Amino acid sequence: MTQFPKDFIWGTATAAYQIEGAAHEDGRTRSHWDTFSHTPGNVFDGHTGDVACDHYHRYAEDIALLKSLGVQSYRFSISWPRIFPEKGKLNPAGVAFYHRLLDELEKHGITPAVTMYHWDLPQWIADEGGWTSRNSVEYFEVYAEALFREFGGRVPSWITHNEPWCAAFLSYGIGEHAPGHRDWYEATAAAHHILLSHGKAVELYRSLNLAGQIGITLNLTPAYAASEAPEDAAAAHRQDGFANRWYLDPIFKGSYPADMVELFANFLGRPLDFIQPGDAQIIAAPNDFLGINFYSRNVVRQGNDPLLQLDHVPGGGAVTDMGWEIAPTALFDLLTRIKQEYTSLPLYITENGAAFPDAVEDGKVHDPERIEYLRTHFEQALRFLEEGGNLKGYYVWSFLDNYEWAFGYSKRFGIVYVDYETQARIPKDSAHWLKQVIERNGL
Ligand code: NOJ
Repeated sequence: MTQFPKDFIWGTATAAYQIEGAAHEDGRTRSHWDTFSHTPGNVFDGHTGDVACDHYHRYAEDIALLKSLGVQSYRFSISWPRIFPEKGKLNPAGVAFYHRLLDELEKHGITPAVTMYHWDLPQWIADEGGWTSRNSVEYFEVYAEALFREFGGRVPSWITHNEPWCAAFLSYGIGEHAPGHRDWYEATAAAHHILLSHGKAVELYRSLNLAGQIGITLNLTPAYAASEAPEDAAAAHRQDGFANRWYLDPIFKGSYPADMVELFANFLGRPLDFIQPGDAQIIAAPNDFLGINFYSRNVVRQGNDPLLQLDHVPGGGAVTDMGWEIAPTALFDLLTRIKQEYTSLPLYITENGAAFPDAVEDGKVHDPERIEYLRTHFEQALRFLEEGGNLKGYYVWSFLDNYEWAFGYSKRFGIVYVDYETQARIPKDSAHWLKQVIERNGL
């Protein structure tokens, strides 16, 4: 099979804090990422999202560019602190920006897919404990209701959360992302409140009888054992519990994985008492689709990590500029496993892509490694489809080079190069290649 199904959706993805800039405009207040990035030592070279790709001012040209690349759908996120810069105060100027953006998409016939939370938590919520506090769930409901009422009629696809593993574990446990805490009780509480807020938003969406679809995007990273030794297999199972099952199980099976509940409670020496009766049912509210962000795989063996008692080992394949192993067949394994163990719902790859150290040469950017990365992953998507998989669309991360969180502007994921000095956009070879893939709807 070299052709994708007729109704297959091709898109690219971005996120507000990574591209918008205009950090202080039209009433926006700080998110915890503004605070984090402005605190020395957190981000490569002290980079912040203050200006980023200046998309807040250049959105019209950007959407025209997207159109010229043949892209059919655009996944972007809404900045919560633009919508609610303060508690209880809806900001009309923030709302107006996303209406203008949606107008441009509509004008060009590009279908929006909106992420409601892509990590820019308003600082006023962070001040109350952020996602570690159960208050965050109510704040998210208020935010969700405002978004559904404002934009519900014009947005056919809603993604409540982007990568809860990152928003909780990487942010409150590992400390690499805002707010930079290192506390596994906080991290598991944050994950729980994020999942709970997802379930609440889904219930709210249903109650409003809107015509579109709603789901969540998980970053799923298959875990492989470094050897056939049973202790390495057990390590891979824990890694899988940590990265994947902790999120998939409550959403699709209605409860946290028991082995991981025990592991966390033992490690913390206290129960996960933020889980309240009735929560599990809310988290498992039926979705319309599952979004999957896929980049790489993990290979582990029994080892020394204090929480998981394992070590990561190199998988042996080539790596991207992030140091992540290129492992396209792991995408096939993952999709197959989701289908077999979790859900027959429509699946979307809501992110897939790679960072490479791109450079401009004579006004062009040659990025054969990115083309190869995408091509080999598209092949695995086709393989999954061939076997009857319910994959509906594919969003490349990212439309533009952008602010790669703790790595600042040092990592380039775009199919369009951004010159941060001049804000010029230069479509890379991969953008021209993707355009052909979309035109052919195949490889
Ligand atoms: C996942 C995140 O959703 C996105 O914000 C990030 O830039 C990419 N992966 C690449 O790391």
